[in-house]
Amino acid sequence: MSSTLFRTKSVEQSIRDTEEPEHALKKSLSALDLTVFGVGVIIGTGIFVLTGKIAKESAGPAVALSFVVAGLVCALAALCYAEFASTVPVAGSAYTFSYASLGEFPAWIIGWDLILELALGCAVVAVGWSGYLRSLLETAGFHMPQALSGTHEGKFGFDLLACVLVLVLTAILVAGMKLSSRVTNVIVAVKVTVVLLVIIVGALYITGSNYDPFIPPSQSAGPDSNTLTAPLVQLMFGFTPSHFGVMGIFTAAAVVFFAFIGFDIVATAAEETHNPQRDVPRGILGSLFVCTVLYVAVSLVVTGMQKYSELSTDAPLADAFKAVGHPFWAGLISFGAAVGLTSVCMILLLGQTRVFFAMSRDGLLPKGFSKVHPRFGTPYRSTVLLGVIVAVVAGFTSIDELAELVNIGTLFAFVVVALGVIILRRKRPDLPRSFRTPLVPYVPVLSVLASLWLMLNLPAETWIRFGVWMALGVVVYFVYGRAHSRLQRGAAEEFAE
Ligand code: ALA
Repeated sequence: MSSTLFRTKSVEQSIRDTEEPEHALKKSLSALDLTVFGVGVIIGTGIFVLTGKIAKESAGPAVALSFVVAGLVCALAALCYAEFASTVPVAGSAYTFSYASLGEFPAWIIGWDLILELALGCAVVAVGWSGYLRSLLETAGFHMPQALSGTHEGKFGFDLLACVLVLVLTAILVAGMKLSSRVTNVIVAVKVTVVLLVIIVGALYITGSNYDPFIPPSQSAGPDSNTLTAPLVQLMFGFTPSHFGVMGIFTAAAVVFFAFIGFDIVATAAEETHNPQRDVPRGILGSLFVCTVLYVAVSLVVTGMQKYSELSTDAPLADAFKAVGHPFWAGLISFGAAVGLTSVCMILLLGQTRVFFAMSRDGLLPKGFSKVHPRFGTPYRSTVLLGVIVAVVAGFTSIDELAELVNIGTLFAFVVVALGVIILRRKRPDLPRSFRTPLVPYVPVLSVLASLWLMLNLPAETWIRFGVWMALGVVVYFVYGRAHSRLQRGAAEEFAE
């Protein structure tokens, strides 16, 4: 039994699968497309929405350091992703990598886990987008009824705008990659312009005293606080749950990590690039670097413009401009944020459909989902199914806790990919690797430890939700995937011959 759970799909087989005409995606992306793609998904709710909440509640102006910490964790993971993506350039990202190195069961676990990152991440961003759009509409004098504005402070409401956004994006994705990457280019340009605007114009309104104290002193969360909302690491080591201080920088890093999610998705699109061996590592590392620099700059500017304790939690970037008396800039920023979040949402959904596609092609999910559309060349069935589910989730959920669940799922995938690099080097040293992770096994081991450290800084309740989701995945694998796996059927056919 253990041998079937850990059966691996050879790298050669993974690459051959992508060449079957019925299951082949169009190869239409270049290195620049990939970098734009990366920046398109990376800059989003993390910087536009979470920065304010986290500076206010956990880190103060030191949230800039939290971005550095989260960026370093991602850089280590990116070095591992880049080697894997250049070795196994096929759809499915961490899922495909694990199938080639760790075996079928770990790969399934990762595929299941990626649903947290991609589908749930997409829903979270759609909800963030709808908040910005509503704020713009309100400026124009139009108020959405509360019942259609999403859930706020325990009061239920259906998020109509988030739901509609996901459905429209689904239609665009079904119509084909080329159209969506052209749309993405325009959106990314608007988003980057707005971020640069915040940095350059905002720098003129910085007041030095707002940085004092840069790392606010540690405060106890209070005797009435719910222990399940405290970071697991504080409970494990028996600390009194607290906010701010040096520990607060790490608590904040575990949340603002959300702002970096997406660089790994560049690897998900590997199968659709002209020259994946060269372009994928460049796309991943390039987009990660650009975003880290922008995040540190934005968070320093915003916490310099307004005292951290006064930052808004809904639209902190725009509201900091209102606070210094510039509503015009605030409106422009809200508009750019709403436009920018659209591309994040779309690419997360695209990533999810590709992972689903790869899992279906391998027989772990029903085969029908990997059929590509005869005219558009896209996996239309999985796209429509997932689009509808994400639209419903986006309609019914609120942002905060979901973002933490997305983070834990993503960090877990990072751990598995880093381990996979070490294992694949041992098992298949012969494979061509156009990008090699430096200092193996040290960099992958460091990446595992860094990702685990951020995971431990997430609340205990997030760990519980994560455990429940993964347990459900194990059940689905044993009930369906194991018996229908293409490797399983291949082995049975060989035996019959
Ligand atoms: N990194 C993306 C964001 O911040 C997911 O919205």
